[in-house]
Amino acid sequence: MGRPTVIIADPVPVHPLLEGKREIGRGEYSIVLDKGDEERVYKIVSSPADYFLLTADDRPKGAHFPIVFADHGVVGRATSGYPFHLIEMEKLYPLDAGSAAEDLAKRLIEIYWAACEQWSTLGMDMGRIALHQLAQSSIDIGGTMKDSLAALSDFIEEYQVLPDILNADNLMMRKDGTLVFSDPVFIA
Ligand SMILES: Nc1ncnc2c1ncn2[C@@H]1O[C@H](COP(=O)(O)OP(=O)(O)O)[C@@H](O)[C@H]1O
Ligand SMILES: [Mg+2]
Repeated sequence: MGRPTVIIADPVPVHPLLEGKREIGRGEYSIVLDKGDEERVYKIVSSPADYFLLTADDRPKGAHFPIVFADHGVVGRATSGYPFHLIEMEKLYPLDAGSAAEDLAKRLIEIYWAACEQWSTLGMDMGRIALHQLAQSSIDIGGTMKDSLAALSDFIEEYQVLPDILNADNLMMRKDGTLVFSDPVFIA
């Protein structure tokens, strides 16, 4: 579902904080290395959308957004031409099969998809409008999730980025079972 999966092919930039760290994830725009303390990871992001999401003063906060500990600055340049920013953030986990977080993620993807279908003629604006509708609707997905959808919708309007929550890879969980939007935006 969603956009085709392309994986960034760049090598991990050379940086003292990254030396000897194990790579645990890679997406279209980011590389994730385990810090090794069970609590944190180093995320090397090349998408400006991800950089805004993780570092902006008015970035969305609340139960369902990742905790960011530090912005270690620019550590290189991706083949795409964008700078690589190094972010130290909380370590998240794939959704456990059968968990409440997985249930909530499935539900969310389902209702967001339905809203997208409804607005499919809007082209580029589809996801933005669908998310806005979801955040405003009376649909019952829990108070903290509702607040997080509204915060995500506001952020998307403010930063002119697009939602990317149809791909279950972009939804992860904390050890305590909380669903987290680990990678909810992109720039077209
Ligand atoms: N905070 C995190 N903790 C652990 N693994 C992560 C974290 N964030 C992302 N990952 C892993 O790295 C992969 C790529 O990250 P993602 O944020 O989706 O990057 P992209 O911007 O390239 O799509 C994810 O599919 C996931 O497996
Ligand atoms: Mg992703």
